Amino acid sequence: MFPDLIQRPRRLRQHPGLRRLVQETHLRGDDLILPLFVCAGEKIKRPISSLPGHHQWSTDELIAEVQALRQLGILGVMLFGIPAAKDAEGTYASDDKGVVQKAIRVFKQHYPECVVMTDLCFCEYTDHGHCGALTASGLDVDNDRTLELLGQQALSHVRAGADVIAPSGMMDGMVAAIRNALDEEGFRHIPILSYSVKYSSALYAPFRSSAQIDLKQGDRKTYQLNPANRFEALKEAQLDIEQGADMLMVKPAHTYLDIIRDIKENFPEYPLAAYHVSGEYAMIKAAAAQNLIDEVTVALEVLTAIKRAGADFIITYYAKEIMELL
Ligand code: PBG
Ligand code: ZN
Repeated sequence: MFPDLIQRPRRLRQHPGLRRLVQETHLRGDDLILPLFVCAGEKIKRPISSLPGHHQWSTDELIAEVQALRQLGILGVMLFGIPAAKDAEGTYASDDKGVVQKAIRVFKQHYPECVVMTDLCFCEYTDHGHCGALTASGLDVDNDRTLELLGQQALSHVRAGADVIAPSGMMDGMVAAIRNALDEEGFRHIPILSYSVKYSSALYAPFRSSAQIDLKQGDRKTYQLNPANRFEALKEAQLDIEQGADMLMVKPAHTYLDIIRDIKENFPEYPLAAYHVSGEYAMIKAAAAQNLIDEVTVALEVLTAIKRAGADFIITYYAKEIMELL
């Protein structure tokens, strides 16, 4: 005989409607931000082989895509620029007529309801591929010189109409430097979403080829976090908050669910973004292409897990596909 159980959790799993009623975490369209790559030139809609389903868009072609995003009701985007020219300090990044600046204007004109976030970094714009200007020896990123340049880039983005500035370079003091630059020019109302907790992850590889980043020498280990570290994440978030960050981020996401939980528990009052990065997306795509998993079900499961861990919203290459489903 079976014991006469009083608690039978399966009772709540019998009816599909009841299962929905007791569901704790809900993935909504309003949780998703779409990364978008904009490039110099005209009539370009270049498929990105490392990120199936994604393209590099020249600003003229972007207009049609923006209309499509509007139809889908995409809440927001994170813009990345692929410039025509690179140099040692990534000068082009702060050009008011640059590719990201133009793309921001396209969004403002054709889809003003969209929240336009811009990734603020130099690795797409430097010929050496690092996230800032280099020191005289050329062996490390010059932190404080990069802070000055970040201020300039941030200003050019907000002058073009960016709604949120998202610095991703992991420079010490970057939030304070950008906050000061914005405030001095009258942009006190523009929030900063800091890539506060960004690990030195091998999962950025598909992104680096899609953004045509060619890291000539070294790696990002002197500025991005060691994947083995947990408590250092709290320090980074704390420092960004002290410098005026309005929102925090953990990146990557799927591989760092514990960190997402830690940051949310310690700083619950700050909206927390999680970046489901290129490698995490590419792994699902690759497994699905081999019919090893059901893509949509896995994508929904992973993104829901990221929310369950504590993220308030997710930057994901799946944003469009999920919006088409919802
Ligand atoms: C630039 C930047 C990177 C990503 C976002 N911003 C690459 C890097 O730090 O090397 C990664 C995004 C992804 O993999 O999807 N600093
Ligand atoms: Zn960078």
